[in-house]
Amino acid sequence: MMMTRIIGTGSALPEAVLTNDDMSALVETSDEWIASRTGIRTRHLAGKESGVSMASEAARRAMENAGAHPEEIDLIIVATCSVDNFFPNTACSVQKELGIPNTAAAFDMNVACAGFVYALHTVHAYFLAGIYKKALIVGVEAISRLIDWTDRSTCVLFGDGAGAAVVEPSEEGGVICISQHADGSLGDALVCENREIENPVSKREQQLSYIKMNGQAVFKFAVTRVPECIHEVVDKGGVDINDVSLFLMHQANERILQSVAKRLKVDIAKFPMNLQKYGNTSAASLPILLDEVSREGLLKRGEYVVLSGFGAGLTWGATLLKW
Ligand code: UT7
Repeated sequence: MMMTRIIGTGSALPEAVLTNDDMSALVETSDEWIASRTGIRTRHLAGKESGVSMASEAARRAMENAGAHPEEIDLIIVATCSVDNFFPNTACSVQKELGIPNTAAAFDMNVACAGFVYALHTVHAYFLAGIYKKALIVGVEAISRLIDWTDRSTCVLFGDGAGAAVVEPSEEGGVICISQHADGSLGDALVCENREIENPVSKREQQLSYIKMNGQAVFKFAVTRVPECIHEVVDKGGVDINDVSLFLMHQANERILQSVAKRLKVDIAKFPMNLQKYGNTSAASLPILLDEVSREGLLKRGEYVVLSGFGAGLTWGATLLKW
C-alpha cells in the first residue's frame, strides 16, 4: 500500500516571549485565569521575524533533518491564515528563500488551525495519483497581526511560529487513513474579516478587523467533532484506538485535549502538549509539536500515531499514520 511518509521535520519560533504576567500589563487578566482556563503560560510573538522568514527557517530545518536537497522538492504547500502578502503566496516566497527550482509547484492553503492536516491530505492525494514525489509542507502563522491587543478574550490565547515536514511516498509507513470535514454554517463562531471592498462603486466604512471568537461555541465544537473524526480514521484503518501510541493535536487549550482524551477513553499521557510554551499557533501548532516529539525520540518506527486539527471554518480533520 502506498503511504505518505514524514521523513523530516523542523520548526522555528520568534525570539520574543511574553509571559502571562506580561499579558496582564496589557489587559485585565491574570496568570491564574489564563493558566487555569487554557494551560498557556507563555507565547512567542514575531518582532523582526515575518511569516515568510519563520516558514523558511522551519522548512530549511525540515529539509536538513530529511537530508532532502532543494532540487528534489516538487511540491510546496504552506498552510496559513495570516499571510504577510496577498501575493506572492507564502509557498512561492519559501521556494525563493530555499532555492527550490521552478520545477516545483507552490501554493498556500487557508484552513486555519486544521491547515496542516488538510495540507498533508492534499499531498497524500497527489502522491496516490502519482503526480509528485517529494513535498514540503509548512504550517506558519504570524497571527499576532490579526489580534486586537485590547481584547482579553482572544489576545492571551495566540502565538506566532512555524513548523514544517518533508514527505515522500513510501510502502514502509506513513498516512493510512484520513478524515476531513467542514461546516461553513457554523463559521461565525470564529471570524477575522478582510478589509471591505473599496472601489469606484463601493465605499469602505469599516476599520481594520481582528479575530472575534465565541470561545464556548468553539470549545463545544472541538470536544465533540474531534473525537468523532479520530474514531473515523482508526475505524477505517482497522486499528484499535488503544494501539495508537501518540495523539498529536492542534494546541488550542489544555482543557479541550483533556476532554478529547476522556471521550476517547485514552490516557492523557498519550497527548503530548506544548501549548504551555507557545499558546495557540493555529496552522503551525501541529508541525511544531511533531518536530518536538520527533526530536525527543517519542516517535517509534511501526507505531500508530494520530494527528488532528480543528478551527475556523469551522473545519476539522484527522490522520492515522504508521510511523
Ligand atoms: O484554534 C482555534 C480554536 N479555538 C479554540 O479552540 C478556543 C476554544 N475556546 C476556549 O478555549 C475557551 O472557551 C476560552 C479559553 C477561549 C475561554 O474560556 P471559558 O472558560 O469558555 O471562558 P468564558 O469565555 O466563558 O469566560 C468566562 C469569564 C467571562 O467573564 P464573566 O462573563 O463570567 O464575568 C469573561 O469575560 O472570563 C472572562 N474572561 C477573562 N478573564 C480574565 C475572558 N477572557 C479573560 C481573560 N482574563 N483573558
